[in-house]
Amino acid sequence: MSLIPFDDRDGFIWMDGHFVPWREARVHVLTHGLHYGSSVFEGERAYGGKIFESARHTTRLFRSAEILGMTPTFSHADIETAKMEAISRNGFEDCYVRPLVWRGSEMMGVSAQAGSIRAAIAVWAWGAYFDNKMAGIRLTWAKWKRPSPETAPHEAKAAGLYMICTDSKHVAEAAGYADALMLDWRGHVAECTGANVFFVQDGAIHTPTPDCFLNGITRQTVIGLARDRGYEVIERTIMPEELGDFSEMFITGSAAEVTPVKEVAGVMYQPGRICEDLVTAYDNLVRGRA
Ligand SMILES: Cc1ncc(COP(=O)(O)O)c(C=O)c1O
Repeated sequence: MSLIPFDDRDGFIWMDGHFVPWREARVHVLTHGLHYGSSVFEGERAYGGKIFESARHTTRLFRSAEILGMTPTFSHADIETAKMEAISRNGFEDCYVRPLVWRGSEMMGVSAQAGSIRAAIAVWAWGAYFDNKMAGIRLTWAKWKRPSPETAPHEAKAAGLYMICTDSKHVAEAAGYADALMLDWRGHVAECTGANVFFVQDGAIHTPTPDCFLNGITRQTVIGLARDRGYEVIERTIMPEELGDFSEMFITGSAAEVTPVKEVAGVMYQPGRICEDLVTAYDNLVRGRA
């Protein structure tokens, strides 16, 4: 696979209030966000030039920053305007949108009280998160567990929390799987490395209670779609021993959208009626066909 490096592309990136040519959107190597994980971000998708749930993503970006004690120098409205301008300036209709807020280079120690709070927004073309997604993806168990809410700020979409996600996903991919299913620190089923999880049992939909991982915007959207369509949705503790009791499984996320799962480490599922119904319902909603 030939990779087009993300720092060597055409287009424009919004940085601290201005659009700069893509290749000039640089930060210094001595940047607090790079050394100490003091960075929060969003992952969004635009469909037909319109970002799905844009305002909710921006609200979560500001909430994530607030949780980590960062006060952006831009308003919610500034970010909303900049996201739309980034899409039009780069000539996209369907694309991924990546706003980022991080601590700058003024201070280089654990404490960075007087450091700047920087912001950027980049957009790029991104097709399906998983190849051949409707056939169902293969998962294995993750190497790491989601930490307790007393250990990490799980409501923040914070870069530091992705350390265990990237490592878990790399290990899973090296073993031939598409992604990893994470347990939490108690041993309950939690989520994938960048998406929430759902299971089907006797026509009802079961999903773990998001008490130590991101309560995704797609997760909340899909729960609403499922209930509108008459499915019972049960949020509860799910144990790994239960995986064989379910007939279908799917994951949700802004990047992953609704993706069926066909295996978790030897436990097999047949992507079926409920998966397909919700894949279609979500697709119709984000494309304004609902
Ligand atoms: C770890 C993790 N969990 C869940 C999600 C799903 O969140 P959302 O549906 O808001 O994109 C994401 C994606 O942002 C994620 O990275």
